[in-house]
Amino acid sequence: MEHKRWYKDMVFYQIWPRSFKDGNGDGMGDLWGVLEKLDYIKSLGCDGIWFSPVYPSPGADCGYDIADYKDIAPEFGGMEAFKKVLDGVHERGMKLIMDLVVNHTSDEHEWFEKSRRKIEPYTDYYIWRPKKPNGKLPNNWDSNFEGKAWTLDKVRGEYYLHLFAVKQPDLNMDNPLVRQEVKDILKFWLDMGVDGFREDVITYISKKEGLPNDRVFPIYKGMWHYNHGPHIHEYLAEFKRDVLDNYDCFTLAEAPLISPKRALEYIDEKNGQIDMMIQFESQTADCLFTDYLPTKFSLRRMKKAFSKWQYRLAGKAWNMLYLENHDHPRIISRYGSEKFHDESGKTLAVAYLFQKGTPFIYQGQEIGMTNWRPESPDMYEDVQTVYYYTHSNLKQPPEKRLKKLWRSSRDSARTPMQWSSDKNAGFTSGEPWFYVNDNYKEINVALQENDENSLLNFYRRAIKLRKSLNAVRYGTYKEYFRHSNRLYVYSRESDAQRLLIVCSFSDKPEKLMLPKGFDIFKAKLILKTHQNTDEKLLQPYESRVYLWEKQ
Ligand code: GLC
Ligand code: CA
Repeated sequence: MEHKRWYKDMVFYQIWPRSFKDGNGDGMGDLWGVLEKLDYIKSLGCDGIWFSPVYPSPGADCGYDIADYKDIAPEFGGMEAFKKVLDGVHERGMKLIMDLVVNHTSDEHEWFEKSRRKIEPYTDYYIWRPKKPNGKLPNNWDSNFEGKAWTLDKVRGEYYLHLFAVKQPDLNMDNPLVRQEVKDILKFWLDMGVDGFREDVITYISKKEGLPNDRVFPIYKGMWHYNHGPHIHEYLAEFKRDVLDNYDCFTLAEAPLISPKRALEYIDEKNGQIDMMIQFESQTADCLFTDYLPTKFSLRRMKKAFSKWQYRLAGKAWNMLYLENHDHPRIISRYGSEKFHDESGKTLAVAYLFQKGTPFIYQGQEIGMTNWRPESPDMYEDVQTVYYYTHSNLKQPPEKRLKKLWRSSRDSARTPMQWSSDKNAGFTSGEPWFYVNDNYKEINVALQENDENSLLNFYRRAIKLRKSLNAVRYGTYKEYFRHSNRLYVYSRESDAQRLLIVCSFSDKPEKLMLPKGFDIFKAKLILKTHQNTDEKLLQPYESRVYLWEKQ
């Protein structure tokens, strides 16, 4: 049986700070804005917040390029505002986790400034390689964002490795001093009272000795040599043993391209080093590995991913459940239907909120924000998108390339939160740092607050139910009709309760299929997406949750 831990009973809300709420009118979201909205987050039934990075940063990757790990960016309100938010969170009985980004720093971090000048002890804080006489790069690895993984630093006259943007040099985790820095950072925030960390691409931090060339095939060359590298478990165990174990905190690791089998090496409750994992499999029901290789949405693939993680972790480790975050386009635009906006938004909510694990909601998901579709490619901000647009498929017509970004770009989900029908969607009284989605007058919090049947209020009801039902938090999971490409049906069962969750992903009426032994005439219908329910038919994107109380 799994351990009882507080985070297992919670629902988390992810804040991507720049676009959440501007409190001081300069057009950029900040912690003053967050402070204003803590009651809103609590009202959803969320008990925890994950902050995407709020540290000082030049912003080459919207804060994932950190220039100082032990401070808060002045534009977000500095340490003073942060402490107010932290107190406000704790006063409301909620928890707060920070983003720990230690695969790389910003090239404007003091460590890098010193390392490129070979000032001790920083000389080996990063991964440096000399220039070769033949002008070749140190190896064939690709970066995830901007071409090759090596850039020549003029100051030091050597190449440094960056698995992401040019302005994100990778730290040399094999250096014990660097690991000590990481532990100091963890300790710094935990001592201040934060409750845990989401660890950014943490499975990348240990690179294979000698940094060998990679095979020709993988999407990003090098991946075989740095994802789950040779010392990964040893380093994570060190962080846990030396710091994390001394606090009542939890960790959530981001792990691109991971299988449940591999995940268990990290999160098995018996001997893992991490508590939960962000897997990417459930994000690939409409693409191959990445949003940049889109395919048609397949419900079967979505179900397969969901069930695989439910079954494989059962009794051994705890799932992290999510549909959206700041790295993927909006889910209604992908797995749902903009035409059946509310219905498909609700069905998606039911599809994941009743699974076993800790659900995360990304800002705006609860009102069904949809993909942003700018009319011009130069409106994009995201470093990955900009590089892709300027370097890929250049022979295709510009409209086609632009449309591709609508589906693939992370910016599709990074527009300001739509609070109301007021100017700038109520996000700022100033000039917003980024474009507001044109549909803010139809999709916003204020409108949905006033409508009992809105998606927002549906989320509230679903979360409340989830929390009141032991079977949802701790019961077993079972999927039915897995070949159906229209319905997702699963049950959850504990000693006292049995639940059946039925979700239609079809835009037409569908026959209500019930697994054997589930007599709905003896059940209570405890959640439904549509007002009127038929015994035999499901309306487009209709979902239901039935409950049987055992005697
Ligand atoms: C993670 C983050 C993403 C960031 C990247 C590099 O994938 O979620 O936003 O760009 O790591 O830090
Ligand atoms: Ca601001």
